[in-house]
Amino acid sequence: MSTKRIAVLVSGGGTNLQALIDAQQAGKLQGGEIVAVLSSKAGAYALERAAKAGIPGYVVARKDFDSNQAMTVALVEKLKALSIDLVVLAGFMHILTSEMVAAYPNAILNVHPALIPSFCGKGAYGLHVHEQALAYGVKVTGATVHFVNEEPDGGPIVLQKAVAVQEGDTPEILQRRVMEEAEWLILPQAVSLFCQDRLSVEGRIVHIKEV
Ligand code: GAR
Repeated sequence: MSTKRIAVLVSGGGTNLQALIDAQQAGKLQGGEIVAVLSSKAGAYALERAAKAGIPGYVVARKDFDSNQAMTVALVEKLKALSIDLVVLAGFMHILTSEMVAAYPNAILNVHPALIPSFCGKGAYGLHVHEQALAYGVKVTGATVHFVNEEPDGGPIVLQKAVAVQEGDTPEILQRRVMEEAEWLILPQAVSLFCQDRLSVEGRIVHIKEV
């Protein structure tokens, strides 16, 4: 089995990228290697994290394109030129269009900061997700890693982890707890499972092979 070439797409701070880099450095991304970080924003802190880890960073800036579709086409071209096998959306804040899914069927993973199908879809990104969870009054939230299909946050679910909401939580406090207790754990796990060819998709269901 050849090592899978992983590209991580980011838009901001990149703490999930950092979790992937840390996992790689600890030998926990079995079967995969992060070979590129692509940012939709020049100056994103995630690019500094990549540089520090010696991973090439590229900017495909949303503002340079008229539409998400035009940006998506440019991203696909770059990913193909880099011979990427797995695309990881780690805090990528734009909706990719069908060209990406067609180029990478069941080979794009996204981390979402809620238990899908709650608090997801259009408008549910970043801090807004936690604002919505707190406004609804849920007592448990969490994070989801899923395959990306044509529907925003609608693809087959790979891993989920629950996190308790606590009295006095603000969106910022809850966001941090969901990252620490869920996202930073399940994203590297899911990437590692993919890279070991342990995930298979049957309709909406993702089967995980035991070793
Ligand atoms: C993370 O909480 C991630 O799950 C979320 O944005 C944050 C990015 O943080 N992504 C989405 O909402 C995508 N729909 P990071 O840049 O520090 O990883």
